[in-house]
Amino acid sequence: SSATFFAKELQIEKTASPKPHPEYESLVFGRTFSDHMLEVDWTAAGGWGAPRIVPYHNLSISPASSSLHYALQCFEGLKAYVDDQNQIRLFRPEKNMERMISSCARLSLPTFDGKELLESLKKLLVLEKSWIPKARGYSLYIRPTCISTDTTLGVGSPQAAKLFIILSPVGPYYKEGFNPVRLFADDKNVRACVGGTGGYKIGGNYGGTIMPQKQAASKGFAQVLWLYGDRQYVSEVGTMNFFVLWKNEKGERELVTAPLDDGTILPGVVRDSILALARKEHADEMKVSERLFTIADLTKAIDEGRVEECFGAGTAAIVSPVKGIHFAGKDYIVPIDEKLNAGKFTSLLANKIMDIQYGRKPSPWSVVV
Ligand code: COI
Repeated sequence: SSATFFAKELQIEKTASPKPHPEYESLVFGRTFSDHMLEVDWTAAGGWGAPRIVPYHNLSISPASSSLHYALQCFEGLKAYVDDQNQIRLFRPEKNMERMISSCARLSLPTFDGKELLESLKKLLVLEKSWIPKARGYSLYIRPTCISTDTTLGVGSPQAAKLFIILSPVGPYYKEGFNPVRLFADDKNVRACVGGTGGYKIGGNYGGTIMPQKQAASKGFAQVLWLYGDRQYVSEVGTMNFFVLWKNEKGERELVTAPLDDGTILPGVVRDSILALARKEHADEMKVSERLFTIADLTKAIDEGRVEECFGAGTAAIVSPVKGIHFAGKDYIVPIDEKLNAGKFTSLLANKIMDIQYGRKPSPWSVVV
């Protein structure tokens, strides 16, 4: 049985009934899908089959599939862009391949060669190029997913799996540009804990966050600021990594985000890119740290006027500015540049990253398909 599938074995079946393309201005995140998808099946006995590009279709799987019972599911999120030369581009896609393999391994789902999935994805994108919206802020969201299709209620290592990729044209997260949000720092519900699976992109990390998010929303807060541990460390915001630009207790100007080493934090591609950009291009203006900090550290710094900016970072929104944090019955106001509708550094990062994604600024991070 083979340890990977091969892009060169790809079979293509084109749709007989292409769908009309939507008005891109009216897109709602993750609701519209392109004409084709990629599918590869695996069994423990036979290994990987050949990848197939087929018309977008509903799956037919047994109701006993263990993905439906025990969250044996992982996924990725990345985007394809069209540049001014009409070329398709991806942003650091090998990072998503690497992370997907690590998520599969964590769930005892089959692994594969990331280069083969990337090559297969590129072929899908070439076929679906007309589905990539062209305007800045718009892109084709790519959702690779791997599920157990093993027909068993036994809690065990999947003996059958399906990997698929679907594509969804998306617009800017917020149509008016930035939409600075207020966060509810939740001291009851925990997204991930030490020894858990927070460091992997698996559906099981997300399902449990929806009810707390709804509760926060009913109190008027857009997202949950996730805390964990006795010391209430600040971890992530909503589905994104979280950054603070502040003057720390030592008086240093510091960009800080939670570290990856305790396994509670998703190793975000935008997170990594922001850290790399800040270290390379802003080292003289700020110290860049991946380290633990608590909600008490953060609220104290806000009270003392030391916090310059807070923002979320992820693939869907790139960066999401924060204008306030509610914790333990108290509201803390985070500064926002009124003209930019975001912090200055937050807005600078968004533009730098988009310039690379859309091929406006040459970078090894932007891969032409
Ligand atoms: C992101 O912020 O990019 C995400 O993880 C969003 C996704 C779960 C829809």
